[in-house]
Amino acid sequence: MRIELNVNGTVHEIEVEPRTTLLDCLRDRLDLKGAHAGCEHGVCGACTVLFDGAAVRSCLMFAAQATGSAITTIEGVTPGPGELSPIQDAFCETHGLQCGYCTPAMIMAAHALLAGNPAPTREEIVEAISGNICRCTGYAQIVEAIALAAERMRGVNRPRSLTE
Ligand code: FES
Ligand code: FES
Repeated sequence: MRIELNVNGTVHEIEVEPRTTLLDCLRDRLDLKGAHAGCEHGVCGACTVLFDGAAVRSCLMFAAQATGSAITTIEGVTPGPGELSPIQDAFCETHGLQCGYCTPAMIMAAHALLAGNPAPTREEIVEAISGNICRCTGYAQIVEAIALAAERMRGVNRPRSLTE
């Protein structure tokens, strides 16, 4: 079947099988490898992308279901080539990533959270990433990264040492 997918602001016309997942379509057809395949059955969250702004597991959706919606992947959140979004920047600064396998999904979950809640509590951050597994168990730094990004995105761009 032929579908139209709006990914990171660009509409792609793609031929897919009805059973093709959104995750496989992004990775294999559009060459967007940032959404990772972990468990591929809805448990780990590594495949998280934004679906009309909401964080969803792309391994649990068919590509055809995404027709007419806006999909955002980690490749779509950077301000420009070679630049990092404030959330990506904060992950680097707080050592919020180790092997990096969970990282794109964690960042997409953070984007979804901060879009609707610019000043989340620690509990709200923990809740927002509770569906995402980090095999390196770097949860404390991930929570710290999202809190730092939230502060900076609210316009409080101070060095971290002055905000603690
Ligand atoms: S790969 Fe989708 S939830 Fe694990
Ligand atoms: S940084 Fe390795 S899985 Fe999270």
